[in-house]
Amino acid sequence: MGLAYDFSQLPQCIDIFREKLRIAVVHGGDKTVENAVIYQTHNPRSTKTYEVVANDIANSLRDLGFKHVFVIPDDATLGDRLRTNNIHIAWLNTGGVQGYNPVCHTPAIMEMLGVPYVGHNPLNSSILDNKHSFKRELQGLGFPTAPFMIWHPAQGEFMAGKNTRFQQLFGNYTGSFLAKPVSGRASLNIHFVDNPKDLTEAIADIHHVTHNTALIEPFLPGREFCVSVCGYVRHKNGVFTKPEEPFTFSILERLLGADEKIFTSMDKKAITGKRVQLVDDSEPVKNELAKLAARIYREFSLNTLIRIDARMDEYGNIQILEANPKPDLKRPAANVTSLTAQGLSEQGMTYEDFILSLISDRLDYLLTNHRRIISHITALLEN
Ligand SMILES: Nc1ncnc2c1ncn2[C@@H]1O[C@H](COP(=O)(O)OP(=O)(O)OP(=O)(O)O)[C@@H](O)[C@H]1O
Ligand SMILES: [Mg+2]
Repeated sequence: MGLAYDFSQLPQCIDIFREKLRIAVVHGGDKTVENAVIYQTHNPRSTKTYEVVANDIANSLRDLGFKHVFVIPDDATLGDRLRTNNIHIAWLNTGGVQGYNPVCHTPAIMEMLGVPYVGHNPLNSSILDNKHSFKRELQGLGFPTAPFMIWHPAQGEFMAGKNTRFQQLFGNYTGSFLAKPVSGRASLNIHFVDNPKDLTEAIADIHHVTHNTALIEPFLPGREFCVSVCGYVRHKNGVFTKPEEPFTFSILERLLGADEKIFTSMDKKAITGKRVQLVDDSEPVKNELAKLAARIYREFSLNTLIRIDARMDEYGNIQILEANPKPDLKRPAANVTSLTAQGLSEQGMTYEDFILSLISDRLDYLLTNHRRIISHITALLEN
């Protein structure tokens, strides 16, 4: 195959890659393992290795015919392991090991090592995983998101009554608040606060647990939704296509119980078909969420999957809560699913189709735009 590449060649390239491409699926490392780190420190984001899901992805790649798939932990040994196993491309299913902004560490290491990867670049990883940074960008771009302020542990005790910024933003607001870590996951350490006075304790608690910034925003009392969005290449019924629009799917409502103010963490209660429901085509909100997700994908120049969480305010307007840079990709089973995989069957896609779509989209992107800097991969196509 010469220097030129176009999408029509993708199936042929994938056939070659199945035989030759050496893929590492990387999951979060465990800092307590010997040689994993130099000094153990703190993870402001609640730690999880995502190893089970990394194995789901790896097994699915193997089922798809990729012959050289490795599952590797993300820690200080990563570079050596990638080198020893002659890895050509990594799939980052990791939230990092420890330290601040852990979600961007692994893509930053990949950039430094020159190993291409399925995952967000370091800047986007950090923006997406820091709710305040993401919301600032959303505000700048004119996307709907609730007003908010942040409070860093070094600023000491938070007192709503004495805080000028708080008074400016929320002086006339009489509703409840939500206080949450700027970098969190699985609805952990989220506080519903009725009276602004009680924000002091909620913020202190978030600081104590995370040693990181806390975010305060109004509590949005309306319906809650998710939408997943990823890149262009899709595989279904044995055929690859590449529409011009990003792929928006799994547009679903998270069903809240009568007394459930915030969606209970999947760490505490599995996500089942009973807790989520695909939004019906007849509901205008479905198209609205799809449009928002596609616009975010383009405006942030994303190049792999995110899941956006949103909620309606008291007037029924959608407000974006956050984006998840590494949404759960668990293989759906009888009694448990993931918010991203739930809507695949509606699209006529299997879990394998989806995994193949994600890696193929990345390879298509690299072959189209970065051919010259992935010569170790293009070399596989030459002979
Ligand atoms: N401003 C808000 N108003 C109402 N509910 C909120 C608000 N912010 C968060 N929540 C509730 O808390 C849950 C978790 O919040 P959010 O999605 O921002 O953080 P997370 O812990 O990173 O999420 P995830 O569980 O998706 O990883 C939401 O699913 C929602 O139910
Ligand atoms: Mg969320």
